[in-house]
Amino acid sequence: MKAAISVKELTKSYKTSSVALNAISFEIQSGEMVALIGASGSGKSTLLRLISGLMPANSGTTSIIEVNGQSIQKNGRIAADIRSSRAQIGLVFQQFNLVNRLTVLTNVLAGMLHRLPLYRTLFGIFKNEEKKLAYEALKRVGIAQCVHQRASTLSGGQQQRAAIARTMVQKAKVVLADEPIASLDPESSRMVMELLSEMNQKDGCTILVSLHQIQVAMKYCKRTIALSHGDIVYDGPTESLTPRLLRELYGVDAEELLREEQVNAEMSTPATTALHQPLHLANVY
Ligand SMILES: Nc1ncnc2c1ncn2[C@@H]1O[C@H](COP(=O)(O)OP(=O)(O)O)[C@@H](O)[C@H]1O
Ligand SMILES: [Mg+2]
Repeated sequence: MKAAISVKELTKSYKTSSVALNAISFEIQSGEMVALIGASGSGKSTLLRLISGLMPANSGTTSIIEVNGQSIQKNGRIAADIRSSRAQIGLVFQQFNLVNRLTVLTNVLAGMLHRLPLYRTLFGIFKNEEKKLAYEALKRVGIAQCVHQRASTLSGGQQQRAAIARTMVQKAKVVLADEPIASLDPESSRMVMELLSEMNQKDGCTILVSLHQIQVAMKYCKRTIALSHGDIVYDGPTESLTPRLLRELYGVDAEELLREEQVNAEMSTPATTALHQPLHLANVY
């Protein structure tokens, strides 16, 4: 069996800054849901952009990325057949990335554009059965009532659920989510994480999701890959990532990952308790 995501010796630096990713390697097997954690600037978004083939690694390096056995890029060159590989990869972003002036339905239908002939893509001609599929996905994420609204009129949580519906319609086998809950309130965050988890368990999607809080990773992902300054500093069971280990790995940056104002905003428990004890799932949300 080929790994769902295979990354070897991946190196990326930007012109204006030091190394963003430093020859990192890992594999994610089909059906896993893996958290990617790290303080701001540790390289999470860079890694997800590279895996989705949106940008190349440094040329002159032996960087290799494959998704489901298909090459995404090699030695700093994007694969020639990237379009067909990209069709299998669903992307979910912090800022939702919907087309604001279009309806929710049209935004979700955009998820199937890669399967349609060019003329239908250009003119946006969708069959009733395709619209039905999009509507079913909107029902599944709980916003069927918004189907004809412009995307811009939805709340952040609803927009992110529409973005997930788009990924469902795309029938993506691999979903890359870049801080999908960072801009959301606790209840919307919970819903979005539940939906991603359901796609993983029911639809068999492999999911790599970057998160800012270890408590959320703990609840939804068995495995965590932790980045620090472009290096993988931990790759293993999320449950072993105690606050103490996080402080060993990250020093003062650990506080950013342990911060709980968002996840605990609606809780009465003092936030300090979780910082000094092993993390308890019951403390999340
Ligand atoms: N477009 C860019 N141009 C220059 N430097 C960048 C760019 N994007 C990211 N970086 C730098 O690369 C490093 C990793 O950033 P990023 O991948 O955005 O981290 P994270 O998503 O974990 O916050 C940081 O030092 C950041 O400043
Ligand atoms: Mg980022």
